Amino acid sequence: VHVPTTLLGQIDAAIGGKTGVNLPEGKNLVGAFWQPAAVLCDIDTLATLPPREYRSGLGEMAKYAFLGVDHLADLPLDEAVAACVACKAAAVGADEREGGSRALLNYGHTLAHAVETTGRYDLRHGEAVAVGLLFAARLARRLGRVDDERVADHDRLMAGYGLPDRLPPGADEDELIRVMRRDKKATAGGLTFVLDGPWGLEVVSPVPEDAVRATLVELRS
Ligand SMILES: NC(=O)c1ccc[n+]([C@@H]2O[C@H](COP(=O)([O-])OP(=O)(O)OC[C@H]3O[C@@H](n4cnc5c(N)ncnc54)[C@H](O)[C@@H]3O)[C@@H](O)[C@H]2O)c1
Repeated sequence: VHVPTTLLGQIDAAIGGKTGVNLPEGKNLVGAFWQPAAVLCDIDTLATLPPREYRSGLGEMAKYAFLGVDHLADLPLDEAVAACVACKAAAVGADEREGGSRALLNYGHTLAHAVETTGRYDLRHGEAVAVGLLFAARLARRLGRVDDERVADHDRLMAGYGLPDRLPPGADEDELIRVMRRDKKATAGGLTFVLDGPWGLEVVSPVPEDAVRATLVELRS
């Protein structure tokens, strides 16, 4: 029975039965799938959570607004947690071993994992996801998949959360691209991202490196 006591754990990590251990080569490279008998999310436990950890949870929560949870920012916390849990449980129920649609839960995570793996930037997971979501929106715009208004939707949602909205200072594009080529979604070294588009989120591969590089520069501090 999982009893998550962080916001990020309640809305995401405790749901889905996936446990990953980070290695120096990358995030989550060793792990297991094992479903818990139950997950108990009690938002009262969040009262003692440090503010930075709470904000990190909001960064992960933001992705659900683009995965089909409507009016997420307007919901009271207990309803927002329940809505995210329902969304993740449905995605996991449809594709437990991530053969297909579960990968959409990875929205914003290709860059986030690269930023975390390179490891020099001291970002919490949800902070890295926040940057990753803003990056993914801009990459989708650069590829002609979404318009300025859709990018503004991402910016507006994240604006109130006090999360990072730029790449960490000194972030190295070459290093980030090298790590992103090793992302679990990538096939044969092609850069692969979950991107927004006219039909909602999709796994897009291969994405041209020059578009990725230009978007990283756009998101520099
Ligand atoms: N398996 C999955 O599907 C999945 C999904 C999303 C994220 N993750 C992973 O989850 C990890 C992040 O987890 P996290 O954000 O829960 O952080 P965490 O477990 O590292 O906890 C953050 C800090 O908060 C403290 N803490 C926890 N609950 C507290 C409380 N109620 N009051 C006071 N302090 C408390 C912890 O001791 C710790 O210092 C990342 O490595 C991320 O990659 C996994």
